[in-house]
Amino acid sequence: MKNNLKLHFIAALTLIAVSFPSGGTTPVYLDCSKPVEQRVEDALSRMTLEEKIAVIHAQSKFSSPGVRRLGIAELWATDGPHGIRPEVKWDEWSQASWTNDSCVAFPALTCLAATWNGDMSRLYGESIGEEARYRGKSILLGPGVNINRTPLNGRNFEYMGEDPYLASVMVVPYIKGVQSNGVAACVKHYALNNQECNRHTVNVVVDDRALHEIYLPAFEAAVKVGGTWSIMGSYNLYKNQHACHNQYLLNDILKRDWAFDGVVVSDWGGTHDTAEAIRNGLDLEFGTWTDGLSKGAGNAYDNYHMARPYLEMIKRGEIGTGELDDKVRRVLRLMFRTSMDRNRPYGSLCSPEHYAAARKIGGEGIVLLKNEREVLPLDLSKIKTIAVIGENAVKMMTVGGGSSSLKAQHEISPLDGLRNALEGKADVVYARGYVGHTKGDYDGVSTGQNLRDDRTAGELTAEAVEAARKADCVIFVGGLNKSGKQDCEGTDRQQLELPYGQNELIAALAKANPNLVVVNVSGNAVAMPWAGDVPAIVQAWYLGSEAGNALADVLTGRVNPSGKLPMTFPKRLEDIGAHSAGQYPGVERGDGSHVADCRYDEGIYVGYRWLDKNKIDPLFAFGHGLSYTTFGYGKAKAVRDGDGSLTVTVPVTNTGSRDGSEVVQLYVSDLKSSLPRPVKELKGFRKVSLKPGETVEVVFSLDDRSLSYYDADKSAWVCEPGEFEALVGSSSADIRSKVKFHGPLAN
Ligand code: BGC
Repeated sequence: MKNNLKLHFIAALTLIAVSFPSGGTTPVYLDCSKPVEQRVEDALSRMTLEEKIAVIHAQSKFSSPGVRRLGIAELWATDGPHGIRPEVKWDEWSQASWTNDSCVAFPALTCLAATWNGDMSRLYGESIGEEARYRGKSILLGPGVNINRTPLNGRNFEYMGEDPYLASVMVVPYIKGVQSNGVAACVKHYALNNQECNRHTVNVVVDDRALHEIYLPAFEAAVKVGGTWSIMGSYNLYKNQHACHNQYLLNDILKRDWAFDGVVVSDWGGTHDTAEAIRNGLDLEFGTWTDGLSKGAGNAYDNYHMARPYLEMIKRGEIGTGELDDKVRRVLRLMFRTSMDRNRPYGSLCSPEHYAAARKIGGEGIVLLKNEREVLPLDLSKIKTIAVIGENAVKMMTVGGGSSSLKAQHEISPLDGLRNALEGKADVVYARGYVGHTKGDYDGVSTGQNLRDDRTAGELTAEAVEAARKADCVIFVGGLNKSGKQDCEGTDRQQLELPYGQNELIAALAKANPNLVVVNVSGNAVAMPWAGDVPAIVQAWYLGSEAGNALADVLTGRVNPSGKLPMTFPKRLEDIGAHSAGQYPGVERGDGSHVADCRYDEGIYVGYRWLDKNKIDPLFAFGHGLSYTTFGYGKAKAVRDGDGSLTVTVPVTNTGSRDGSEVVQLYVSDLKSSLPRPVKELKGFRKVSLKPGETVEVVFSLDDRSLSYYDADKSAWVCEPGEFEALVGSSSADIRSKVKFHGPLAN
C-alpha cells in the first residue's frame, strides 16, 4: 500500500512534468522563450488552409481572428494616431457604448512635429502605446507621415509636415515608443495619399525622383530605422494600381528594397481586386465590406477579397499557396511580437503621467509666430482684464475629424485653461465673436456641448468689439475645426482663408484694442491678411485633452515657446507648388472609371523648396518659431571626419533674459550640380535648452546620403563631386551662418 502510494506519487509527478511548459512539451509556437521565427514556422506548419485564410482578413470592424484551435489570440487594431479610439460595434461604426473606453487625447501629430524634438516623439509613442496595450490592442493605426503637399488636405493635422527629413526623424521614436509596449505601430498611409478629395479614385502621377526624395523617406525611415511592425496601404492609386495592392510600392520598394518583414494592412475598404491583393503585397485585409451583418450580406467578411475568393482560387488550382504562406508568416510574426508575447508590459490608461505628457508635448509644439512690443507673455502686473474672444476658445476639438476622433476622458478648453491659470490674477471675460460649427458629435460620441447661438454676425461682432475695448488685452482664439471641409478626413478645405468671417472680426478687434493676441487653432496653414495689424500670433494646433492648460502655459510664460513650423504658411494658395505648377485635385478621365489623374508636376519642389526656387516670401517660413528669449549664432565650421562624414558645428548663445530652447536647423545646398536641385534642404536639427548668457556648441553630422539626389535613371542615390554649403539657421528663411565644403564625403 505504501509502495503503491509512492508509485502513484511518482506517476503524478511525471504527468505534471509532461504537461507543464518547463517539461519541454510546450509547442514551440507557444513558447515565449523561443525566437519569433521558430514560433512562426511551427505555428504555420500546424495550420489548415482555412485557418491560414482566416488570419489574413477581418472578422469585425477592427479585429481579425487568431487560430482558436491552437490557442492563438485574436488581433485587435485601433485608431490612432492621437489617442485610442472608443469601441465601436462589431460590424458598425456606431458606438459600442462602453463606459471604460475613454482615453487621453494627445496633441495632433502636426503639433508633435512642431516640437522638433525626438524625445517628445518617444514620450508620445510610449504613452499612447501604454493606452493601446491597456485596452488590449495589438496594432495602433498610426502614426501618419504623408507629406503636406497642399494646405487644403483635410488630413494634414494627422501628419508630420512638409519636409521628408523632419518627418523621418520624428516618426522613428514614436514607433519605438509604441512598440516597446508590445503593440505594433501601423505607419500610414503608404503612399502618396496627399489629399482627401477623390481619395479613393485619384491616380497620382509623380516622377521617380520626387517619389524617392519627398514622399517615401519618412516611410523608409519608419521601416529601416523605426522597425515598424506594420504599415497601412493608402486609398489612392499609383501607376494605375491601388496602393493597397501595388506592385511598385509594396513588392518592389517596401518588401524588396527595404526588406520590410512586417504586415501590410489595407486601409479600410482599400482592397479592390483579389488577384492583385494576392500577388502585390497585401497581407491583411480590413474593412472592405463594412456593412457587415447590418445590411444582411450574409457573413460579409467571407466575401472579402482575401477570404473565400482567395480560398476558391487556390482550390481551383488558379494560384498556389506560396503567397499565402508569406502573408500568414507576416501576420504570425506580428502576433508573436504583440498579442502572443506573454512578457509584454500591461500598459495603463488615463494616468497622470499621460496627461502630463500631453501637456508637455502641447506646450513644446505651440509656435509663437509673431510677438511685437512683447505683448506676450501676458504681463499680469499691468493687465487687470483680459477679453477672450472666439468659438475655438470654448469648442471641444477631440471629437470629429474622422477616424482620429476620440472619446477623451476630459478636455480643457482654452478658456478654461486661461481661467484656471489667471484665477485671482486677472479678470477674464468671454465673448463668442462668431458662430462656426455648433455641433460636437462624431459616430455617436458627443462633447455634450451645445454651441448654438442665433445672434447675427453684426450682434456678435459688436459684443466682441465692446469687450475688446474695455479690456487691457485681447486673446482671440479662432481658426479651423474638425468639421467637414476643414481639418477633417474625407474632404479637403475649399480655401486657404479662415472661415466664418473671422478675418473681418480680427480686423475689427485689432482696431478696438492694440494688445491683440491671435491664437490660430488648426492643423494646416491659413491665410492671415491681418498679420501686419496684430502684434502677436500663436499657432496652437489641436492640442487634445490638455489643450487649454498647454496654451495657458505658453501665453502666461510658464512655458517659454520653442515650437517651429513643420510646414510653410504661404501668403496665398498660388504660392504653393501643387497649386502653381502641379495639379490639384486631379482631372477625371471621363471614361466611366471615375479615376482622376493628379499630376505632381511641381516634382521635388514641395513646401519651402518651391518658395525658395521661385523667390517667394512666405507669410511664415518652414522652421519659423519665436521664443520669449533670443538666440545668437556664431560662425559655423565644417570638419571632415576620417570615417566619411562631415561634422558641422555652430555656437549658439541665449542672448535674452529667460531660460529657453532653440531648434537649430541645418540645411544643405549643392552649389553646382548636373540636375536642378532645391536651393536648400533640411538635413539636420537639434533642440538645445540654454540659460540666459549660456552658449553651447551645436554639433551636426552629415554623410553622403544627406548630399545626394535620387537618380531616376540609375534608381540610386547619387552624391556628385563638387562644392556644397551647410546653412545653419533659426528657420528656412533665417539663415545665420554658412560654411562651404566639398563632397562626396566617403573618399
Ligand atoms: C482611414 C484610416 C483609419 C481607418 C480605420 C480609414 O478610413 O483612412 O486612417 O485607420 O479608416 O478607422
